[in-house]
Amino acid sequence: MAERLSRQEMGERIDSDPDYEGVIDPAFYQERAIFYGGLRIARRVGNIVKDSLPIKGAPSPHILDIAAGTGIVARHLSSLGYDIEATDASQSFLAYLNEQDPTIPTAVGDMNGRLPYGDGSFDGLVTSWANRFITDVDHFTRSAHGLLKPDGFFFWPIAIAETHLWQKRATTLIEFPNIIDSLDRAGFEQIESKKVPSEYKLLHPGSAIPEVVLVAKK
Ligand SMILES: C[S@@+](CC[C@H](N)C(=O)[O-])C[C@H]1O[C@@H](n2cnc3c(N)ncnc32)[C@H](O)[C@@H]1O
Repeated sequence: MAERLSRQEMGERIDSDPDYEGVIDPAFYQERAIFYGGLRIARRVGNIVKDSLPIKGAPSPHILDIAAGTGIVARHLSSLGYDIEATDASQSFLAYLNEQDPTIPTAVGDMNGRLPYGDGSFDGLVTSWANRFITDVDHFTRSAHGLLKPDGFFFWPIAIAETHLWQKRATTLIEFPNIIDSLDRAGFEQIESKKVPSEYKLLHPGSAIPEVVLVAKK
C-alpha cells in the first residue's frame, strides 16, 4: 500500500474521485459497495443478462466484466452459470476477486487502452460502477464493439448520479443522448434502455447507483 488511510479516508476517496490501486483496501471497497446496493445491482444486471443471453445448455455464454473490481457482478453472473472473465486496472482488486472465486479468469487491463483480449472473444460484456473512469467514450464503445462476437450484447448500467464525476475525466460531454450516439457510431445495431428502480442509499451524489441499463446488440 502506497498510503495508509483510515476507513473514513478510504470511504471519502471511494466516494469522491478514487484512485483505487494501492490505496483502497479491496475488502473495504467491497463492504462499502455492498452497503450502497451492489448485490441488488448485480441481481438486476443478472436478470437483464438472462433475458438477452439465456443459458441454453453447454457452452454457456462467455461474458467479460470490464473494470470488474472485486467481482460483485462477475461472481453473481458466474453463480448463474455464465462463463465469466474479469478485467480491471487493479491487480489487488482482482486478487481479492480470485480469493472469493478462483474459477474466474482475471487479467489486468486498462479500459481506456487496449484490453488484453482478441476481437470477437465474447458473447456479452458488462461494466458496472466504473463509468467515471472512462476518458474517451468513443474509444470505449468501439473497443466494446470489437470484443463482441456478432450478435453479442453489451450490458451497460448508466448511473445519472455518477455523471458529474465522469464528466471530470471524459473528453466529451457526458449526457445520455451522447452515450447512445457513441454506441450507434461504434456500430451497435440495437440499443435499448432498460429502466431499473433507483435505490438511492446516497450519502452524497458521488455514489454510483445505476438507474438504467443500456443493452446494445452488435
Ligand atoms: C467503483 S469500482 C466498480 C467495481 C465493480 N465493477 C463493481 O461493480 O463493484 C471501479 C473499478 O474501476 C476500476 N478502474 C478504474 N480505472 C480503470 C481503467 N482505466 N481500466 C480498468 N479498470 C479501471 C477500479 O480499479 C475499480 O475496480
